[in-house]
Formats: sequence, C-alpha cells, structure tokens
Amino acid sequence: MTAAEVLPAVTPAGAETADLRVAVLGVGLMGADHVARLSRRVSGARVTVVSDAATDRADQVAAGVPGARVVPDPLAAIADPGVDAVVVASPGRFHEEQVLACIERGVPVLCEKPLTMDADSSLAVVRAEDAYTARTGQRLVQVGFMRRFDPEYAALRELVASGGLGEPLLVHCAHRNPAVPAGVTTESVVNDSVVHEVDVARFLLGEEIAAVTVLRPRSTRRAAEGLSDPLVVLLETTGGRLVDVECFVSTGLAYEVRTEVVGEDGSALIGLDPGPVRLSAGPGGAVRGSTAAPGFRERFGRAYDIEVQRWVDAARHGGIDGPGAWDGYAAQAVCAAGVEALRTGRRTEVRMEPRGGTRS
Ligand SMILES: NC(=O)c1ccc[n+]([C@@H]2O[C@H](COP(=O)([O-])OP(=O)(O)OC[C@H]3O[C@@H](n4cnc5c(N)ncnc54)[C@H](O)[C@@H]3O)[C@@H](O)[C@H]2O)c1
Repeated sequence: MTAAEVLPAVTPAGAETADLRVAVLGVGLMGADHVARLSRRVSGARVTVVSDAATDRADQVAAGVPGARVVPDPLAAIADPGVDAVVVASPGRFHEEQVLACIERGVPVLCEKPLTMDADSSLAVVRAEDAYTARTGQRLVQVGFMRRFDPEYAALRELVASGGLGEPLLVHCAHRNPAVPAGVTTESVVNDSVVHEVDVARFLLGEEIAAVTVLRPRSTRRAAEGLSDPLVVLLETTGGRLVDVECFVSTGLAYEVRTEVVGEDGSALIGLDPGPVRLSAGPGGAVRGSTAAPGFRERFGRAYDIEVQRWVDAARHGGIDGPGAWDGYAAQAVCAAGVEALRTGRRTEVRMEPRGGTRS
C-alpha cells in the first residue's frame, strides 16, 4: 500500500520524497524541544503549524521557524490542510481529544506520554485506531516512550532478545532525579516517573505486567512535605519475572537512570553513562570520576532525536515505528494498579482488556 492510498486526503502525490509537514501542539518544555529537533536535527520534516494555549509562547516558537504559522485552536491545527502529521506535547489531560482527532482525520501522531489520563480512555484510543487499521492496514499512533530509542536500551533489549543472557529472571531499575518541582505528589511520581520503568520492563522482557506492589521506605530529609521519597515498586510479569524499581526523585545530586537485567546465564547493566573518566584533585587525594547528566534532556537527548527521526521516516510512508497505542494503554493500566497499590499498601493485580484488534 502506498502513502497516497493511506492518507489520500492530506498527503500530496510523491509524499515519500516531500518533507512531512508537522503540527506541534503544546510548545512548552517538550514541544519546544521537538520543534527545535524537527527543524534542525531531523531530516524529511518541517514544522508548518504551532499551537499552544499560550499564544505568546506559540508566537515566539513559530517566529524561530521559517514557514511556520500559529493556529491557536489545536483541533483546527490537526485539521489544517498544511499538516501531514502531528506531535502532541500538550498537558496529558488534552491528549485523548487531540489523538482521537488525529485518528479521525487519518494523520500519524506522535503523542508524548501519557497517551491519556486513565486506562479506560487509553483503551478507547486503542479501539479507535484498531478501527482505522482494519479499514486501511495502517497504524497512526506512536507514544513517546523515548527510552526504547536510547542506544544503550536498544542494545540491552537486543542482548536479552537474542538469548545472550539466557532466560531473563530479574530486572533492577533505579530512577533518580536531583529534585522535582513543587506540586509533585507520590501519586504523580508513579504516573510520571515510574511509568518509564513500566515501559522499559515491557520492552526488555516482551511481556505484560500482571501485578504491582509499592513500598514506602523511610523518606529522605529532602522530600517535600507529604511526598514519600524514595519509593520501591515491584512489578510482576505474566511470565513470573520480577522487576524492582527504586524511584528517588529528590536526591539532591543528578539524574540517574540505571537498568540491570539478570538472566540465567549472565547479567547486563546500562546507565552508568560515564563519558570521559577524569582524574582530578579531591579532598583526600586524587579522585577518578565522570560527570553525571543533570537532567533527562541531557541523558536522553540522543534518544529523543532518534525517536523523532524514526517517527518521521515512518509517518512519511503512513505508519509508525515505535511504541504504539497499546503500549500507552498498558502503561496506564499498570500505573492505575500502582496508584491503587500505593493507596492500599497491598499487592494489586493489573486490570487489562485482552489485546484483540488488528495489531501487528
Ligand atoms: N517523554 C518524556 O520523557 C517526557 C518528559 C517531559 C514531559 N513529557 C510529557 O510531555 C507533555 C508536555 O510536558 P511539558 O513538560 O512540555 O509541559 P509544559 O507545561 O512545559 O508544556 C505544555 C504546553 O502545552 C500548552 N497547552 C496547554 N493546554 C493546551 C492545549 N489544550 N493544546 C495545546 N497546548 C496546550 C501549555 O501552554 C504549555 O506551553 C506531557 O504529557 C508530559 O507528560 C514527556
């Protein structure tokens, strides 16, 4: 099937060679970064429309991109005839409506996580895309779980999938932030931070999460009032594997994301990302060390670039190349169980519908 058949209403003839014309909805931290990478580092695409509830911000971002216009209403931006594909980087509560509008129009969409705010609405997106796929044979919705594109994670997954560690048994994850903004709650740590480990676990092990337990050890003195920090989250997979996640968001130090897979015949660890190892003077003598990434944009900058390039390449041919709506739904279902486990202090089973549909 050609791209012209898939996106007859919006993709001009010869679309395989034309730049993909992208609308970016929401140009705060993530959206502005995506505009910059689409404009400067990714080939085969250009930003033609920028939309944000804060029109001054949209004006400012569009002013830096030759040929870009501001369309304040995000649904009008999705419907714009000068748009072939959409990046959704608005706050999560707007994703459902915006992604459904993209499916309705038949345009590929890269939606930042979360796909939607809860599992039921994410499932509705899965089903809407399934109906589109049944008609066209094409998928439209990619979800922004960028770690899958990080070269270290990709290599780890390859190692696991090729049997290089034997049967995988355990995964140890550490997710540490130096600090979090005011207003972050323990529940939002599960939904916004642990969600990445949930996707990593599913990606590395290739199976669903069946149950979640959340433990609250003694909190750091740096934790904001009311925040349980760190958390330890245990994820049990359908195949009986166990994933432990330390999520510690106010270490006062740096951004650290580390993952170790332990298999029957070996183990592999990623996330030390040392860069140059330097010898320098320290208080008690010379110290050998390296600089840790200050934040997620530094640690995963390359992953975002690869993610968006692969999405553009796929979208130009009317498809996706990465985690899809089902992965967004599964992550929401696991986080819902995580929030319940946090509230009750009990092991909580994940409630998920059978996959079904026309997934590849
Ligand atoms: N993949 C990742 O690692 C990662 C990291 C950070 C954030 N995110 C996700 O990206 C999304 C955006 O996060 P952010 O940190 O950039 O937030 P942000 O607050 O910096 O930016 C959101 C922008 O959306 C605008 N906006 C508000 N309502 C809108 C609407 N209805 N339509 C379009 N724009 C609207 C806001 O004015 C703001 O400019 C969130 O879903 C977040 O969870 C993903």
